[in-house]
Amino acid sequence: MNIGSSIKIALAVGALFLLLGNAFIIYKNFNTEWRAYQIAYLKMAQEKTADPKIKELLGNKSPRIEQIVVSGFGKERVDRCVTCHMGIDDDRFADAPQPYKTHPKIAGNHAYRTFGCTTCHDGNGRGLSVTDAHGHGKHWMEPLLKGDLIETGCAKCHPAPYLKETPKLQAGAALFVRKACIGCHKVERVSNGKLGPELTKVGAKWPVEYLRESIVFPKANSVESIMPIFQLNEDELTSLVVYLKSLNGENLVMGPVTNYDAVKAWKAETLAVVPLTVESGRQVYLNKSCNACHSINGEGGKVGPDLSVYGLQRTKEYMIQHHINPRSLNAGSIMPDFPYSKTELEALALYLSSLTKLTFDNAALYSKPVVTIAK
Ligand code: HEC
Ligand code: HEC
Ligand code: HEC
Ligand code: HEC
Ligand code: HEC
Repeated sequence: MNIGSSIKIALAVGALFLLLGNAFIIYKNFNTEWRAYQIAYLKMAQEKTADPKIKELLGNKSPRIEQIVVSGFGKERVDRCVTCHMGIDDDRFADAPQPYKTHPKIAGNHAYRTFGCTTCHDGNGRGLSVTDAHGHGKHWMEPLLKGDLIETGCAKCHPAPYLKETPKLQAGAALFVRKACIGCHKVERVSNGKLGPELTKVGAKWPVEYLRESIVFPKANSVESIMPIFQLNEDELTSLVVYLKSLNGENLVMGPVTNYDAVKAWKAETLAVVPLTVESGRQVYLNKSCNACHSINGEGGKVGPDLSVYGLQRTKEYMIQHHINPRSLNAGSIMPDFPYSKTELEALALYLSSLTKLTFDNAALYSKPVVTIAK
């Protein structure tokens, strides 16, 4: 065989592959999900239109990929969501099924042509199938945000101090301080805790389910976890998860980051005056989740010492000093520093001083030194 004919064969084979490749691409394009959604949309739009001229135009329109190019908020985004979600700014589609439904009215009046969709919703802007676009395919780190979780998206442009329109973020940030998460975790500009891992970008690192699990059941990720189990209701838990998920290092507006305000606001709140009674001290104990780590009469956590007869063991002055700074009395203590007002400190000490009831079960505690860290 001479060289000329082998080149000819190679060319022919190459051409055949090219042809097959093109045919495959054309086939795939005709079979894409978005096409079916758009054809259905055009039909619905035609039915909703009275003007015969527009009706005809819609009838002749062939499906095509629609996209919004968003520039001015971080790196450029190409959001093709409106290829399927075509009725988004058309009030006639208020009762239409998804993906055609009119977008709910939301605070702030953001225009979709400027803001796109993934700025708030995450997902994969370039995706053209439901699975891809909603970010539910493998390896996509930013699945669609909806429901309460969408507040995570708002935080990208409206960082702390959070808007009142994002109540879950507000509540989550406050709980993070109030429940003493700050005592163990560092979040840049918010807290400096060192006992647990830094959480400044924890939202970019883990999916929502993992964050939830880490709070509900710390031992799921590490059997030796010293992180206490907190008593949180469903609402508080969701707020904390929304807040943690929003800590992703993403800021699309690069405005001043004033996260410190959350802590400042809390500090101001700690000037709160509480009544000097045993009962109000008990409320302080419960509000600050002390029971996540301590037991009284058999109820509570086991990270810190049992406090059932603590009133017999320490003076009020000692208690107050310990609460202000546990490490001033026990250098290795993992007990977090909580912010307290003066009256809260007093009431708490009153409550703990009232724990004096020796019983058969707790007598042994009295004779043991207080400071023991349960493993
Ligand atoms: C291929 C068509 C298609 C594309 C592209 C698409 N969607 Fe959807 N979307 C749907 C369909 C169909 C539904 C309703 C069924 C469902 O939730 O899976 C839906 C539902 C939704 C919902 C409501 C989910 C719920 O559970 O209530 C949101 C929010 C949403 N899409 C946002 C987006 C965003 C943001 C993009 C772009 C990143 C996008 N979609 C791209 C087809 C699409
Ligand atoms: C991509 C950035 C971006 C995202 C994401 C975003 N916003 Fe906004 N938002 C803006 C801009 C820009 C304005 C306009 C400010 C102005 O007009 O001066 C605004 C204005 C507002 C306002 C009017 C009050 C004010 O402070 O100006 C509210 C309320 C608001 N947004 C709520 C939200 C909520 C709720 C979300 C999440 C669902 C959200 N925003 C997501 C950028 C964003
Ligand atoms: C400024 C933030 C913001 C932008 C930009 C935005 N959305 Fe939304 N979207 C929201 C909020 C807030 C909700 C209501 C959340 C909830 O209650 O589930 C929502 C709800 C939805 C829903 C569910 C509606 C329903 O009735 O359940 C769909 C679908 C949706 N958005 C699609 C889009 C698409 C497509 C775009 C881009 C054209 C877009 N969104 C742009 C904030 C935004
Ligand atoms: C006594 C210290 C302590 C307190 C208080 C504490 N944590 Fe933790 N946390 C830890 C430690 C230690 C870890 C490391 C892994 C483990 O032990 O589970 C951790 C892990 C985590 C993780 C997983 C981080 C990752 O990247 O894997 C999250 C999320 C978390 N904590 C959130 C919280 C929240 C929210 C609160 C408050 C409600 C809180 N923590 C209070 C000590 C603490
Ligand atoms: C993250 C777990 C944790 C939380 C939450 C916690 N503690 Fe502790 N606490 C400890 C540990 C561990 C010790 C033992 C080391 C030490 O003395 O600091 C301790 C010790 C104590 C002691 C005994 C100190 C002594 O030597 O006499 C008291 C009293 C106490 N804590 C009260 C509280 C109160 C009140 C709260 C809530 C405001 C609280 N703790 C929250 C872990 C915790």
